Amino acid sequence: MAAAGKQLFEHEWEPGDQLALGGDGLGPVFNASSCVACHGQGGSGGGGPLEFNVTTYTVRPLKSGEEPREGVVHAQAVQAEFKETLAHVHPHLPPQSQPSLRDLLPIPGCNVRTLPFPQGVHLSQRNTPALFGAKLIDEIPDREIIAKERRQRLVAGLATPDVEDLPVGRASRLADGRIGKFGWKAQTASLLDFVQAACANELGLGNPGQDQPKPLAQPSYAPPGLDLTREQCEQLSAFIASLQRPVERLQDDPVKRAQAEEGKGLFHAVGCAACHTPDVGDVKGIYSDLLLHRMGQDLEGGGSYNEPPLPGPESDAGTGAAPGEWRTPPLWGVASSAPYLHDGRAATLTEAIKLHGGQGDRSRQRFEALNSGDRQKLILFLETLEAP
Ligand code: HEC
Ligand code: HEC
Repeated sequence: MAAAGKQLFEHEWEPGDQLALGGDGLGPVFNASSCVACHGQGGSGGGGPLEFNVTTYTVRPLKSGEEPREGVVHAQAVQAEFKETLAHVHPHLPPQSQPSLRDLLPIPGCNVRTLPFPQGVHLSQRNTPALFGAKLIDEIPDREIIAKERRQRLVAGLATPDVEDLPVGRASRLADGRIGKFGWKAQTASLLDFVQAACANELGLGNPGQDQPKPLAQPSYAPPGLDLTREQCEQLSAFIASLQRPVERLQDDPVKRAQAEEGKGLFHAVGCAACHTPDVGDVKGIYSDLLLHRMGQDLEGGGSYNEPPLPGPESDAGTGAAPGEWRTPPLWGVASSAPYLHDGRAATLTEAIKLHGGQGDRSRQRFEALNSGDRQKLILFLETLEAP
């Protein structure tokens, strides 16, 4: 299963592909033509560079009676007639299919974007995460994540997860009652579900778990049939599940090694481990609580892949994450997965830490208050967390 899945993961898909029996193959809209094109850093299953960021959008209605819309602007199309651009999201946006992250982010200090968003419209991007260790995350029982949520509330004196400055996360409860564990917004409960969504959303390969997206340029397009069988999706899942987990590799140099060990202590002391908890259940060294945290206004990013309902009251199941909420990313493998944060805006580990706001703000301040030697030790510790 895993060997067959590896082939599918590395396969360059084409329109009318011979492996896509019954369907239209790649596209008509897609973000890349193979899984490994994005997930290739340090081998099949790794993270990906900024060039392969995926652009998501949210449009909130300005008049009552209109429905909110959200989804992905696909970077590519098999033919010009299907090509999606920002102008399909809103007529005041340019006919551009693949904006760069810099087009979408306010410039620090002057707070304007090169691309102004029309009222009610929000564009953001997602950077490709690495998949090493995904099997272990898949196997974590929901109750372990709920236990983390309860513990953070207790520690914070029964605070609710809408507090802006304490590390009190919430489990992502999906409409069907399961807990979301995968994705930057913890929007998906299982590895197989995510694989099916990725096949459809990234490559335009419709399958029994997820229809391929309808091109914004031609919403009436209907594919001749499904591109993938359930078995092919299970093979892809089996391949990802076969990837080794990340490792903690201490430096050879004894001085650096001692400093990294001290850095680990500092990581706990300044409060990083409140969210980046070393263990979840039996999974050791993951450095995440898998909970959603409010990370402040600068990190807001709406839009989604799976079109869940837009966020409503925080306590309701299935309402999705708020724009400022993100799942604590596991830090295992972090030394090998730059750039950082949901859209890859941070080139280095230090930048990623400095961009923590909201519930991460206190811990960021304590990090910045350390002397430069201690900050360096903490970074040396993070640098021991490598891809397998
Ligand atoms: C265009 C780049 C791109 C391609 C191609 C791509 N992915 Fe991804 N992948 C992403 C991004 C971006 C995310 C994060 C999405 C999110 O969280 O909203 C992701 C997330 C994932 C995750 C969840 C990881 C986690 O820990 O949350 C899985 C599993 C995955 N992809 C599998 C696949 C498979 C299988 C394929 C091929 C069918 C594929 N991806 C193709 C960019 C890509
Ligand atoms: C309130 C919970 C919380 C605390 C406390 C916290 N983090 Fe984070 N961390 C997050 C979340 C959530 C993200 C993802 C934010 C995003 O992508 O926009 C993140 C992202 C990161 C990343 C980028 C990872 C990646 O794969 O892109 C690093 C590195 C990191 N944190 C390190 C730290 C360190 C070091 C500390 C302590 C100084 C810390 N964090 C404190 C929640 C937290």
